[in-house]
Amino acid sequence: MDKFVVYKSSLQGEVEISGSKNACLPIMAATLLTDEECKIFGVPDLTDVRTMIKILEILGKKIVFEDGVLVIKTKNTKSCVAPYRLVRTMRASFCCLGPLLAKRGRAKVSLPGGCVIGPRPVDLHIKGLRELGANIRIDKGYCIGETKGLRGKRIFLGGNFGSSVLATANVLMAASLAEGETVIECAACEPEIEDLVRFLKKMGADIQGEGTPIIRVRGVKCLQGGEIKSIPDRIEAGTFIAAGLATNSSIKLRNVQPLHLTSVIEKVREIGGEVEVDNSQISLHSRGYISPTEITTFPYPGFPTDLQSQFMSVLSIGKGISLITEKVYPDRFMHVSELNRMGAHIKRQGPYAIVEGVERIYGAEVMASDLRASAGLVIAGLVAEGKTEVHRVYHLDRGYERLEEKLKKLGAKIKREKQ
Ligand code: EPU
Repeated sequence: MDKFVVYKSSLQGEVEISGSKNACLPIMAATLLTDEECKIFGVPDLTDVRTMIKILEILGKKIVFEDGVLVIKTKNTKSCVAPYRLVRTMRASFCCLGPLLAKRGRAKVSLPGGCVIGPRPVDLHIKGLRELGANIRIDKGYCIGETKGLRGKRIFLGGNFGSSVLATANVLMAASLAEGETVIECAACEPEIEDLVRFLKKMGADIQGEGTPIIRVRGVKCLQGGEIKSIPDRIEAGTFIAAGLATNSSIKLRNVQPLHLTSVIEKVREIGGEVEVDNSQISLHSRGYISPTEITTFPYPGFPTDLQSQFMSVLSIGKGISLITEKVYPDRFMHVSELNRMGAHIKRQGPYAIVEGVERIYGAEVMASDLRASAGLVIAGLVAEGKTEVHRVYHLDRGYERLEEKLKKLGAKIKREKQ
């Protein structure tokens, strides 16, 4: 198991943002909707992508992954089982359920189980696919489905916490091969859904309304192969912005889509940074201090839950009291106790965290609990006095491509060590 050793740093220079993990994973699942060749460009080399490759190979795909390009062909279409040992490590693999049902008429996909960021049910996925006419039962931890043909329907996909990104993806993919029209209400509006639809359209799907809460899908008989270049990873971009802010730095991000980061850019301007936006670049100039604020996470276009921990690290050295409200995953606060071990003053009460800014935090040994929490701890390490050791960085490797190398190029004092 690797760890990161991090020292107080200031950053300078340019960083290239990778393709989006959360766009690529559902697009990879969508290749199950066709037997023809598909190509995905700009794919980040991450553990999660490697896991999805393994699952697709079990499901009969032949895959070559080189220089950020995935070429996916079909070897056989017999297997319909996505096993527990892989699905439990990455929930996005549950997205194979819809395409398998729509294309092969049957699927056995492990239920993903719990997760450190709180309960992560899949009821909306199952509800949506059942409404399209799939017979789905749960047996020994697996979701087993079959259908003689899906039929379009009006489906409300809202849950207690609003829309669901991957449930929208799952139902959308299945509906693209269903008979007749499907209308998904309370669909997720995330750019990753728009990117998936861009790919499905290239495969021949008939879809309207992506990027809005109402998506219409007119099912087609079959889908052909397709090619797409992934959008830039808005969460990786937001993580570098948070790192730049926390370390009082000026940095430039290349390969970004600023429109996907509006809520984040607004917040950065409010709390401590000048942000200049130019096509596919963002320049950040820190003002030298962090003002307190309120952050509430929401589905897109609201402030992303996937940047909550990183901005908590920023606010923990702010000049006053900030309030963070987590409206997507109310239990996503495992990083609070680790930040407090570094000298931050943060109190958690249910879905709220009250962050009392302190002048300094101090290096310590801390434990990464999930992907984004780990990124928050690395940022804290970059501002802390002394040495910070972030253990269990395999979480980071799931979703950040060469994070330590990119930070090092910006001047950060960070290294990966074997434990
Ligand atoms: N929810 C339900 N029922 C469901 C599905 C979701 O109640 O059937 C609830 C969830 O518990 C949560 C809310 O709906 O409270 C939203 O969850 P959502 O389904 O949108 O999350 P997801 O699709 O499983 C994706 C990202 C997450 C990101 C969330 C929210 C991927 C692969 N994952 O997950 O990314 O936090 O959307 O934006 O796209 C990450 O990258 O670190 C990560 C966790």
